[in-house]
Amino acid sequence: MSHSDTPTPKRARRKVTTLRLQEMKQAGEKIAALTAYDYLTARLLDDAGIDLILVGDSASMVFAGNDTTLPMKMEEMLYHVRVVTRAVTRALVVADMPFMSYHKGFEEALHNAGRLMQDGMAEAVKLEGGKSICPIVEKIVDAGIPVLGHVGLRPQSIHVYGTYRARGTEALEAQAIFDDALAFEAVGAFGVVIEKVPASLAERITRALKIPTIGIGAGHHCDGQILVTQDMLGVNTRFHPRFVRWYARLAEEMSRAFQQYLKDVKAQEFPADAESY
Ligand code: KIV
Repeated sequence: MSHSDTPTPKRARRKVTTLRLQEMKQAGEKIAALTAYDYLTARLLDDAGIDLILVGDSASMVFAGNDTTLPMKMEEMLYHVRVVTRAVTRALVVADMPFMSYHKGFEEALHNAGRLMQDGMAEAVKLEGGKSICPIVEKIVDAGIPVLGHVGLRPQSIHVYGTYRARGTEALEAQAIFDDALAFEAVGAFGVVIEKVPASLAERITRALKIPTIGIGAGHHCDGQILVTQDMLGVNTRFHPRFVRWYARLAEEMSRAFQQYLKDVKAQEFPADAESY
């Protein structure tokens, strides 16, 4: 075979594992994470090389149109996890544990985390909280289920906060968030999501932890970044906090396509002969 006949090697598709994320932190390679709730989006994210795909309970708002993440049920989360894991071969797939699915005792928390892994085929679960839920996190990790912690703004606690403003802007709360992140590491979490806190606090946490931090609205010092996919695609134009960068303006593009289709159908310009049998 001549040199020119040699097939171009495909880009290496090394499976992303929790160990790999740890290696990335050590090597200073940033982790790119996004959310998915459906098969086609998950496949596109995986093909693009996104490292971590989160089946987030943000689906409650973004997919189902609720005002908060609280209404998301285990059965609904399981459905989304199943369709996403069916699409993904490389990225690490993490499933959010829905509100109240891990607060009513070890047994129920373990049962629900187990279902996300066994029925949903997720590779890890994410829990919002801190020190107070660490005994539960320890049991879940003990059972062989990797846990990603979530500190800072915790959307499942929106009714406690009464606002989605940034957290940890005052010294006392900043220290509590720092302690929560350390507590997650101490009980074996493989990483921590840090949401909407000052960049300086996220930097302090990132330096203190051996496990990777993944920020959302937490500045550039984190070991990785995550955004809600529909937000970064500009699908939801009513939600544009300053931490969301629009990488596309799909709402405009979709509206344009819907209007063109409407026009074509009304004008009997669709379907054409070539689109008929
Ligand atoms: O539910 C979700 O999508 C999340 C991310 C925003 C981190 O928790």
